[in-house]
Amino acid sequence: MIIEILRGDITSLDADAIVNAANCTLLGGGGVDGAIHRAAGPELLECCRRIGPCPTGEARITPGFRLKAKWIIHTPGPVWHGGSRGEDDLLRSCYLNTLALAAGKGCRTVAFPCISTGVYGFPKERAAALVLRCLSSWAGPLPEKASICCFSEADEAVYRRQAEILEKKL
Ligand code: APR
Repeated sequence: MIIEILRGDITSLDADAIVNAANCTLLGGGGVDGAIHRAAGPELLECCRRIGPCPTGEARITPGFRLKAKWIIHTPGPVWHGGSRGEDDLLRSCYLNTLALAAGKGCRTVAFPCISTGVYGFPKERAAALVLRCLSSWAGPLPEKASICCFSEADEAVYRRQAEILEKKL
């Protein structure tokens, strides 16, 4: 799977699926969750209401409604509590469960935000290193490409630095 690091607003991407850093209610919120619900329109909230709550680390898929993306995959990331409550494993599960759902729908491209590194406080460098290792070990034929959509310049710099470190280790 190709891994791309880019900077931008995930709601504008025309990937087959974009990923939402949701909360467990799936009923919207701030950050990227709020942006995706605003851009997708009110049908998304209705659809999420029917799906119901989603545990941290799991993922649920909905249509993209008014977005360019055909699908939205909602995954609640872990709130950072210092690293001793399984936060790393839960964040890894967000990405792996999302990739499995995307592959199941035949998605060739999927775009992730930096899950849990905003309001949920997961350290950015730690998350980026974990995510890049997780994505680079994905062995399935689909998706063919995973884009990491960084909203800020700082986030993009973190990912590019961690990608360089990982490349040196491989
Ligand atoms: N496109 C891409 N990335 C974005 C966008 C956007 N339009 N808006 C924000 N981001 C980035 C943030 O800069 C951050 O890097 O998404 C990343 C995740 O931050 P949050 O949205 O705060 O998500 P998270 O830390 O996982 O916290 C989730 O916040 O919005 C609520 O309902 C959500 O309760 C949940 C919690």
